[in-house]
Amino acid sequence: MPITVTLLSYLVSSVCCIMALRGLSGPETARNGLLFGIVGMALAIVTTLFLPGVHSYGLIIVGIAIGGSIGGVIAKKIEMTNLPQLVAAFHSLVGLAAVLIAGAAFRNPGAYNILDSGTGLIHVGSLVEMSLGVAIGAVTFTGSIIAFGKLQGIITGNPIVFKGQHMLNAALGGVMVLLIVALCLTQSALLFWTIVAIALSLGILMIIPIGGADMPVIVSMLNSYSGWAAAGIGFTLQNNLLIIVGALVGSSGAILSYIMCKGMNRSFFNVILGGFGGETAGPAAAGGQSDKQAKIGSAEDAAFILKNASSVIIIPGYGMAVAQAQHALREMADHLKKEGVKVRYAIHPVAGRMPGHMNVLLAEANVPYEDVLELDEINRDFSQTDVAFVIGANDITNPAAKKDPKSPIYGMPVFDVESAGTVLFIKRSLASGYAGIDNELFFYPNTMMLLGDAKKMCEGIIKAFEH
Ligand code: TAP
Repeated sequence: MPITVTLLSYLVSSVCCIMALRGLSGPETARNGLLFGIVGMALAIVTTLFLPGVHSYGLIIVGIAIGGSIGGVIAKKIEMTNLPQLVAAFHSLVGLAAVLIAGAAFRNPGAYNILDSGTGLIHVGSLVEMSLGVAIGAVTFTGSIIAFGKLQGIITGNPIVFKGQHMLNAALGGVMVLLIVALCLTQSALLFWTIVAIALSLGILMIIPIGGADMPVIVSMLNSYSGWAAAGIGFTLQNNLLIIVGALVGSSGAILSYIMCKGMNRSFFNVILGGFGGETAGPAAAGGQSDKQAKIGSAEDAAFILKNASSVIIIPGYGMAVAQAQHALREMADHLKKEGVKVRYAIHPVAGRMPGHMNVLLAEANVPYEDVLELDEINRDFSQTDVAFVIGANDITNPAAKKDPKSPIYGMPVFDVESAGTVLFIKRSLASGYAGIDNELFFYPNTMMLLGDAKKMCEGIIKAFEH
């Protein structure tokens, strides 16, 4: 393939990737965004296969067939609630690829055109790019494996902390920088592999102190790292597309991490330094509430209240995803709309376990986009709303975020559901949410708890409507 065709094809592919990100920024355009992403990636792969450096196709085709089949099967089978750990697992592979490519280039620099013809040594610029790519790649590799283990429940979700941990991490980071300088001066293989070993350890040490509640932010941060690692390797391979796409992934991951931190009112450093959240969430964590009495209702009670309302705001959370209640919920909302009730959905930026989690589920159930509103757009309307219908959400409604300066979620923006006429709260128990803290909203005089699985409860309400 002539070089101009290759460059043109890479340019089109880069534009497709930019259009993909643009499309994925809103639910209406997300499908087109995905299509752009698929076209961009397919074009990138085909163009790369026709590069003059590619001499044999046998192993490449076998690799694509094996990797593609495994990826296809996993993507088909994966549950929505397990997506964060799947993303973490895939990022680890990007990190590993960066380490392997940098290792191959270091061992056989001639094959990668990075040798200085005069001295016969590797260009210093290439060594800097390679060592940055390999260091970030190795941190991403082990960090993502730990994130996967925590999200999958293989490793404890509690922060693993010890004295002097942050000092140790800072010292290892400092040593790594010094070794990169020494590597550029000496080109020693021992130094190269020592950098890899330190970066691998740093990936583990950086992620173990972070609690389960902050894992989604960390997965997005590792996503950003994997992009920068790919961009670094793009310089080594002199591949413009890899540099562009790596930088796109790196910057979008960083922006996403920032948005999530803002949604939780936490600083990025506060997340990185760890120690927040973990496995405290669960029935035991609700112990402080055991002396209080909540008003418990049935599906029939809820149906009666909903039918007599003129406006309802639905607040979905992680429990809706667990129960896969979105279809039953939409059916319930359709019944209410037919009765003339105004029904809207309120989405918190960190509802569920990943950005856009609730939007994707509601779109899957064909909820009209115009009924779905963001926190800032709808929060003021609760005081003029008859029923706030909280389904499988908890932390994002917790008034402690507004009232209790000692609460770990103090300052996080939350829905003012308590200002609605009645709050209907579907969850299975009075246990806490992911942040592991009690929610006094369960005991407010205008709250009725509907204890049970979210899907079954919605089906029960629909049945009660029909009778
Ligand atoms: P949570 O506060 O985790 O509450 C979810 C509730 O769903 C639980 O209290 C649980 O109570 C209930 N539940 C679980 N399975 C259920 C089922 N089958 N049927 C009915 N209820 C069920 O979720 P949220 O309100 O969506 O808040 C999200 C949390 O994740 C926040 O703490 C947020 O900071 C954190 N987080 C999110 C993100 C992103 S990007 N989304 C990123 C970082 C952190 P029971 O066990 O009693 O049923």
